[in-house]
Amino acid sequence: MQRLAPALREDNVPLDLISLIKTVLAATKEISFRVSQAHLGGLMGSTLDENIQGEIQKKLDVVANELFKDILLESGFVKAISSEEEDSSVPGDENGKFIVSFDPLDGSSNIDINSLIGTIFSIHEAPKGMAADDPDMFKQAGNKQVCAGYVLYGPSTMLVMTTGKGTHFYVLDRTHGGYLLVERNVRIPEDTQEFAINMSNQRFWHPAMKNYIDDLILGDTGPRGKNFNMRWIAAMVGDVHRVLCRGGIFTYPADSKNPNKPYKLRLMYEANPMSFLVEQAGGLSVTSEGRIMDIEPTSIHQRVEVILGSKNEVETCLSYYKK
Ligand code: AHG
Ligand code: MN
Ligand code: MN
Repeated sequence: MQRLAPALREDNVPLDLISLIKTVLAATKEISFRVSQAHLGGLMGSTLDENIQGEIQKKLDVVANELFKDILLESGFVKAISSEEEDSSVPGDENGKFIVSFDPLDGSSNIDINSLIGTIFSIHEAPKGMAADDPDMFKQAGNKQVCAGYVLYGPSTMLVMTTGKGTHFYVLDRTHGGYLLVERNVRIPEDTQEFAINMSNQRFWHPAMKNYIDDLILGDTGPRGKNFNMRWIAAMVGDVHRVLCRGGIFTYPADSKNPNKPYKLRLMYEANPMSFLVEQAGGLSVTSEGRIMDIEPTSIHQRVEVILGSKNEVETCLSYYKK
């Protein structure tokens, strides 16, 4: 099996980006170890603090964030970082060529039940002529990402990453401590009979989404003429990974539960990197109004509607909004 750096060189990834990716992955290896030892190391449960988004931080959210942040900022490759767990962007090296957005631990509600969690990251080039402490550097659309990926801390620690030349799977080989390429150019099947949505929000959805899901549930007795299965991991990393492995549609649609918060998932460190991975695997990733990666961001923690996965199924879902 091929090691990570030669695999990246084969895709003609520039050397400075490879160095940054190696730095990102060094952080994920340490997070993977901390996650596996959480109970033993007293890292289960919550802190007494909230992040800027008003969510109680788990102890592992904070540890993963500090690890990721310190390793990136010390590397010299990074001009600034932004994170779910940081109020604003954090400046790094003025000469750093890249900026990195990340969700240090996605699926935090799974921590205390020893279930699936992961780290999501998104890399852009740092715009020239802007100071390292200027958060406006992060106002770049997803279509300008140079790399995106996630690491899943599951039964095996898996890296899923793209630099714009396809989406590839790697597994952390603990015998030598590096990631090995296990699947190149993953493709998402265009059709599916599986969907992922938090059904408990049903009464708060837009009527189009409600009608679409109703028809999936009707199965072969309804207009779709085939039965659908449902899965919900409550960690976007887990749900998107399943979609990349065997197809499906994953959505966190707009809802009216809290009028001040119509969307749940964050654009910069959840929706954009996942969109890049999904599109590079032949899938679609949209809101009910258009392509996610074309959204011009207005703020670091902005939230967005997400509908992604198997091409034909996402298109069918969107057709309900046009009816
Ligand atoms: P995070 O743990 O980083 O805050 O993200 C959780 C997100 C996402 O991963 C997941 O798909 C969704 O929240 C789960 O939402 P529900 O709590 O509605 O299931
Ligand atoms: Mn998350
Ligand atoms: Mn998180």
